[in-house]
Amino acid sequence: MSELADYYRDRAAEYDAVYDKPERQQDLATLKELLPPLVAGKRVLEIAAGTGYWTQVLAESAQSIVATDLNDETLAIARSRSYSSEVSFQVADAFRLDEIAGEYDVVFTGFFWSHVLRQDTARFAQSLVQRAERVVLVDNKYVAGSNYPISRTTADGDTYQTRQLTDGRTYDVLKNFPTTEQFRADMAPADVTWTDLTYFWLATVTG
Ligand SMILES: C[S@@+](CC[C@H](N)C(=O)[O-])C[C@H]1O[C@@H](n2cnc3c(N)ncnc32)[C@H](O)[C@@H]1O
Repeated sequence: MSELADYYRDRAAEYDAVYDKPERQQDLATLKELLPPLVAGKRVLEIAAGTGYWTQVLAESAQSIVATDLNDETLAIARSRSYSSEVSFQVADAFRLDEIAGEYDVVFTGFFWSHVLRQDTARFAQSLVQRAERVVLVDNKYVAGSNYPISRTTADGDTYQTRQLTDGRTYDVLKNFPTTEQFRADMAPADVTWTDLTYFWLATVTG
């Protein structure tokens, strides 16, 4: 597993604290209004579902959700939630979507795009678009004081943060903050609707 996957495995039990940040509450409430209509009545494939925080939001309106993640530790927490539609869980690698069975109307991924290397984003984008007629993504915008500072930037433009868990362990975590233009270029020729909130962005992609 990569350092990224190790970090989220080790962070599983404390992951949801990120959703308690007071300054982000208004934006989170907005996302919880915007997302359910985008998946209403649809068969959803969720990539890198983590602890199921967004799965629960999508389940308010989706017909069904297959929630996947590389880490069974995060999915164990997701399994412990209750959902208002049919949800199943599967360990799966976001970069091997062809190994996930089933037909889907919408692919959703929350806060994972930022963890994809710049050199891989266009290929990853195409693999998402191939799985469904609509792809919905949410992720962070960089806001000083709310996000971890950028600790280093590579020649390719990938940015990293030094993340610390409550037990003191630190991890060098890839976290990119794409511009709308970069994202649209990666998704081309698919059509992108982009919404900027203060702390987050939301994109809806249709092939
Ligand atoms: C930032 S968390 C997002 C979790 C969840 N979507 C949310 O928004 O609360 C990133 C997730 O990606 C998962 N992950 C890391 N590498 C992965 C990979 N190659 N394939 C699938 N999931 C992966 C981690 O286990 C973690 O749950």
